Amino acid sequence: MVHVETAEGDHRVQPTIAGTVNDEHYMARAVAAASSARTVTSPNPWVGAVLVAAGGTYQGATAPPGGPHAEVTALRLAAAAGDSAVGATLYSTLEPCAHHGRTPPCVDAIVAAGVARVVVGVLDPDPHVAGRGVGALEDAGVEVTVGVGAPEVSRQLAPYLKHRRTGRPWVVLKLAASLDGRTAAPDGSSRWITGPAARRDVHRLRAESDAVLVGAGTVRADDPELTAREVAAERQPVRVVLGSAPAGAKVQPALELSGDLGGVLDHLGSLGVVQLLVEGGAGVAHDLHAAGLVDRYVLYLAPAFFGGSDGAPLFRGPGAPTVGDLWRGQVVSVRQLGEDLRVEVAPAGEDRGTGSAAPATDLEAEDLP
Ligand SMILES: NC(=O)c1ccc[n+]([C@@H]2O[C@H](COP(=O)([O-])OP(=O)(O)OC[C@H]3O[C@@H](n4cnc5c(N)ncnc54)[C@H](OP(=O)(O)O)[C@@H]3O)[C@@H](O)[C@H]2O)c1
Repeated sequence: MVHVETAEGDHRVQPTIAGTVNDEHYMARAVAAASSARTVTSPNPWVGAVLVAAGGTYQGATAPPGGPHAEVTALRLAAAAGDSAVGATLYSTLEPCAHHGRTPPCVDAIVAAGVARVVVGVLDPDPHVAGRGVGALEDAGVEVTVGVGAPEVSRQLAPYLKHRRTGRPWVVLKLAASLDGRTAAPDGSSRWITGPAARRDVHRLRAESDAVLVGAGTVRADDPELTAREVAAERQPVRVVLGSAPAGAKVQPALELSGDLGGVLDHLGSLGVVQLLVEGGAGVAHDLHAAGLVDRYVLYLAPAFFGGSDGAPLFRGPGAPTVGDLWRGQVVSVRQLGEDLRVEVAPAGEDRGTGSAAPATDLEAEDLP
C-alpha cells in the first residue's frame, strides 16, 4: 500500500505499486492531453482526462467555455466507439466539477456512465468545487484517488490554481535585454534587441495570456500593438495600459488602469484574467518586482552589449541597497531561441510542486540556424 501526499495536503491510499505505476502513466497522458487546451479554455482550467475502459482508452481535453469538459469528452468518445465505461477508471488532471456552470456537473456523467474509479491530479480550489466533486463521487460509491502526478499537474495549472486561490492573475513579467541588461538605447529605441525566434515566443506567451499589460511610458516610446500575431491564436488578449494611452495608439482599444498595483491585479482577476503578461517598461517592471507581485520572470537575452550605463535598465527605480538584500530566484528553464537566450526564473522558495529544492533546468537549443 502506498500513501500519497497531495498538493492539497490530503492523503489517500493507492492499492499497489503496479497500480501506482499505471496511474502515473495514464495521468501523464492526461497532462499531455490538457496541454492541447492551454490557450482555449480560460477562464476555465485546461484539463485533460483519460478513460481506461474494457475496450480501449479514450482521452479528452477541456473545450472552449460552454463546451464539454475533458472527462465528458473522454466518456463520449468511449460511447461513440461502442465501449462501455462500466467498471472503468477515469484519470483527470483536476477534480471533476460537481456544480451546474455553463455545462452540467461532470460527476453526474461519471456516475451515470458506471465508472468504478476516478484518479485525480489535484483538487480544484474553485469555491464551487473545492472537494465537492470528490465527495459526490465517493458518496455515489466511486473509488477516488487524489494526488497522482500532482507536481506536474500543479505546474501545468499554476495560473488557474493561483487565480482561484487568490482572485489574482498569474503574473508573467517579460523583458528583452542585451546581455549587459539594457532594455532600450539612450534615445529610447528598443526595436529590436532580440531576434525573430524570441519575438515569436513572445507572441506565443501573448496567445496563452488573457491580458497583456504595459506602462504608459512604453506606449509613448514604442506604440506597441500587443497582439498575438506570429502564432495561430484562438483569441487575442485584452490589452491593458497602466496610466493612459492616446486615442490613436495602436494598443487601443485598451483597458486603462491606474493606482495601487495589488488593486489592479484584483480588478483584472475579477474580470477573469487568469494569466497576465507584463511587457514592461522598466518603471512598471520595477514596481511589480519591488512589490513581490511577479510569479515568473521571462528574460530574452541577446548576445549583444550596449556597452555603457546610459541605456534603459531592466528595472527603473531603487534596487537592493546592499548585496545581502539581493533578490534571488530559481531557474525554471534556459533555452536558446535563434541567437538569443530565454531564461525563465521563479521567486526563490516558491513551491513549484516539484517536491524538491532542485530547479528543473532544461538546457536545450531551439531554432538553431
Ligand atoms: N526591452 C524591452 O523588453 C522593453 C519592453 C517595454 C519597454 N521597453 C522600453 O522601456 C522604455 C519605457 O519604460 P518606462 O520605464 O519609461 O515606462 P513604463 O514602465 O512603460 O511606464 C511608466 C509609466 O506608466 C504609468 N504608470 C505606471 N504605473 C502606474 C500606476 N500604478 N498607475 C498609473 N499609471 C502608472 C506612468 O505614466 P505617466 O508617466 O503617464 O504618469 C509611468 O510613468 C521605452 O524606452 C521602451 O522602449 C523595453
